[in-house]
Amino acid sequence: MTLDYYKVQLKKTAEQLSEFKKGILAVDESTKTIGKRLFDINVENTEENRQAYRGMLFTTPDLGKYISGAILYEETLYQKHADGESMVDKLAKQGIIPGIKVDTGLKPLVGALEHETYCSGLDGLTARASDYYEQGARFAKWRAVLQITENGPSDLAIQENAWGLARYARAVQEAGLVPIIEPEILMDGNHSIETTSKVQQRVITEVYKACHLNGVYLEGTLLKPSMTVSGSDAPEDDAETVAKMTVETLLRCVPAAVPGIVFLSGGLSEDQASTYLNEMQHFAMTCSNVPWNLSFSFGRALQHSCLRAWGGVDGKAGHVALLERARANSEASCGLYANSEEGVSNESLFVSDYKY
Ligand code: 13P
Repeated sequence: MTLDYYKVQLKKTAEQLSEFKKGILAVDESTKTIGKRLFDINVENTEENRQAYRGMLFTTPDLGKYISGAILYEETLYQKHADGESMVDKLAKQGIIPGIKVDTGLKPLVGALEHETYCSGLDGLTARASDYYEQGARFAKWRAVLQITENGPSDLAIQENAWGLARYARAVQEAGLVPIIEPEILMDGNHSIETTSKVQQRVITEVYKACHLNGVYLEGTLLKPSMTVSGSDAPEDDAETVAKMTVETLLRCVPAAVPGIVFLSGGLSEDQASTYLNEMQHFAMTCSNVPWNLSFSFGRALQHSCLRAWGGVDGKAGHVALLERARANSEASCGLYANSEEGVSNESLFVSDYKY
């Protein structure tokens, strides 16, 4: 099969994923990263506990009202729930489309600046993607990371990461998976929001240039950027500024053929992530030229309170907490979020040099 064969389906899946009022739940933490989250709530990082946690998430009643897709780690795609039904079937019952993280992690980029990386996993990718499709996955994720420093990101890091994203996107489209294209700009640093905007524009422009060269079918993709914020060590901007800077930056470089933009939360608190998304809708309503649906694909900002409420034992409390953040972010994606709702966490979820 080829991209031509899957074209109609790719467009339909991308549109379903970016359905109005819905967003994506990112639960594709590697075994090491989920281990850190479980450690924080005194739960051991065993396959059984990972199954219990993710099974709890997917059986949250009514989750499908707010969530269109869930990004899984490979283990989960092939895993059964404790009751014997597959995780994929649990999601299907809620009308949630399963996706899969297909990159194999960040590696040092020789010749670039210290700390700069490229994202690995291109070898044999179309064959792997075909296996994931067989297993029920219909979309994929690949996270490339760039960091703002005194001299960075370097042209080499931008070029290499943009190229990797485009190669990945084309490779998984050949197997029927909608690629989520994720060029994350880390929050680490004391740079201004204007600097973030300039860097993001450079990076995303390069990403779409590479997509054109690789023949990526843009209607069958989604973009997952970070929000345009100043560095974690710089003073915080107000939500209106973040919203305006983010939408204006994206308008300069994201083609109108892309159906949806789903933001990552990147270390923002639950409340910041929802508030900024909400403000973006307000700002977008004042512009006549925003062509894409704007929504969320949060990991930390959807799971933080839920993990604590669950604590390894209390499934009901976990369901309530997850549904609450899913509903709040659905409201934010329509500009209807009541800022700083009671009980919402303001705790920063920022981790320096974050690994997913
Ligand atoms: P965060 O929302 O925690 O940044 O995670 C989203 C994600 O999928 C990162 O790759």
